Amino acid sequence: MMEEENNIEEDDAASPPVRTLHRQRVSLQKNSVCSRSYFMVVMVFFHVYIINVIALLLYVHYNNGSTPSTPNLDFSRRDSSHKVSEASDAQTPADSGFARDMYLPRIEGIRVGHVQKVSLVPGKVHEMKTLSLKPLLFEIPNFLSGEECSVVVRLAQLKGLMESQVMVPEGQEELNQQLNLSPEEIFNFLDLNQDGQLQPHEILTHSRVRDGIWLTSENLKEIYDGLKVDQDGNGLLSLEEFRHLRSDAFQHFLMQRGVERSQLVRNSRHTWLYQGQGAHQVLQDLRKRITSLTRLPSSLVELSEPLQVVRYEQGGHYHAHHDSGPVYPETACTHTRLTANTTSPFQTSCRYITVLFYLNNVEEGGETTFPVADNRTYEEASLIQNDVDLLDTRKHCDKGNLRVKPTKGTAVFWYNYLSDGRGWVGEQDEYSLHGGCVVTRGTKWVANNWINVDPDYQRQAHYQQLVSQQQEIQEQEEIISELNSERHTETHQDL
Ligand code: OGA
Ligand code: CA
Ligand code: FE2
Repeated sequence: MMEEENNIEEDDAASPPVRTLHRQRVSLQKNSVCSRSYFMVVMVFFHVYIINVIALLLYVHYNNGSTPSTPNLDFSRRDSSHKVSEASDAQTPADSGFARDMYLPRIEGIRVGHVQKVSLVPGKVHEMKTLSLKPLLFEIPNFLSGEECSVVVRLAQLKGLMESQVMVPEGQEELNQQLNLSPEEIFNFLDLNQDGQLQPHEILTHSRVRDGIWLTSENLKEIYDGLKVDQDGNGLLSLEEFRHLRSDAFQHFLMQRGVERSQLVRNSRHTWLYQGQGAHQVLQDLRKRITSLTRLPSSLVELSEPLQVVRYEQGGHYHAHHDSGPVYPETACTHTRLTANTTSPFQTSCRYITVLFYLNNVEEGGETTFPVADNRTYEEASLIQNDVDLLDTRKHCDKGNLRVKPTKGTAVFWYNYLSDGRGWVGEQDEYSLHGGCVVTRGTKWVANNWINVDPDYQRQAHYQQLVSQQQEIQEQEEIISELNSERHTETHQDL
């Protein structure tokens, strides 16, 4: 364009008789040249802006943990022996050489309140509603029939339930000795804002679940008074005051005084129900339905933990927690640990998905709370303010972001980990923090199906390979023993 404008000026200079008029034209044209180039610049900026916005939207869309849409594909019959490379390719366009037999499709949440129809049992359509995107959380009413709920409860009662949390003897002294930390080092670690004083919430953030006892700020006041530790009575602990305490002083104080069930992290009873071959048909069906719901390879679902059935009495609760911890390179998963050849002291259950079923209608209370669902940020320190503790499901369930009312037959499920962007498990989703609010009237029955996946793909694949080899050996042994017994009876007949 600039070249064109120069040409016009040269043409004008070549005609002297009409110079004055031309001068005006030239100046006019200069103006229009200016406004044209101004217009061009504006347009270029405008286009660059639009392209940036589109790029940003695409980035957000693909980084949301959601994969390219595969809503109608049925992965329920996929297992480790099926190659799903075409599907993996769709997920890993930029990752050539990423050859895997398994991948983990994630269901898209679209937006909060979005309802998608899913077909899980023949002749029936379920509606699956998105409750939050952080964590990716869904609700499916009538996932189980009333009769199925009753069967699960009866089977659990037949098997017998045990206390979900037993009081462990005090063992903190030992741990601190192992870690070899001085009181100064512990003080520094606890002093989050580094002001040389320990505020109550700084103590609660890190020491509240020691030995399974749930410390509250009221407990802390009682302990300070009982142990006469807060000499100046300002509610804060200085390093000097802290030095006078033994490392398990708080828990020790409460233990001595006697701990009630309501002071524990969880106050419920539970049992485990096997869902494999030979199990009650309802339990087997349930697992198949979960495979269809999650669209995960069936081999993964089959090798996961059994069904956990939980009963809360009136007054029962489960303070906010993550079902599975963060994963670092040295962390081992409980389910693959024995085949992984590692002796890591760090272990977590690697529960990629939680499916929670409500088995009865609770008279009052007992909601499942997700205190930070869809929060803009996640900060551990801000969960406990001086007077509101968002993790405390006995006191502050009403202050969390999201609560699900227990309704018989409804299932909720969520992802405890993000995607790694390559079709496998990524980082822990901290927003999956949740708990069971106190049951204020009646009892509450729920069941958990956790889908265990090792974030280390090779470890998961190796584990599955070993299990299937073991199964083959077992099957062969069964055939041999059957043949032997047939031969044995034949010999008897001969005699
Ligand atoms: C659990 C759990 C929530 C509830 O059992 O891990 O978080 O509502 N339960 O009972
Ligand atoms: Ca402090
Ligand atoms: Fe949980």
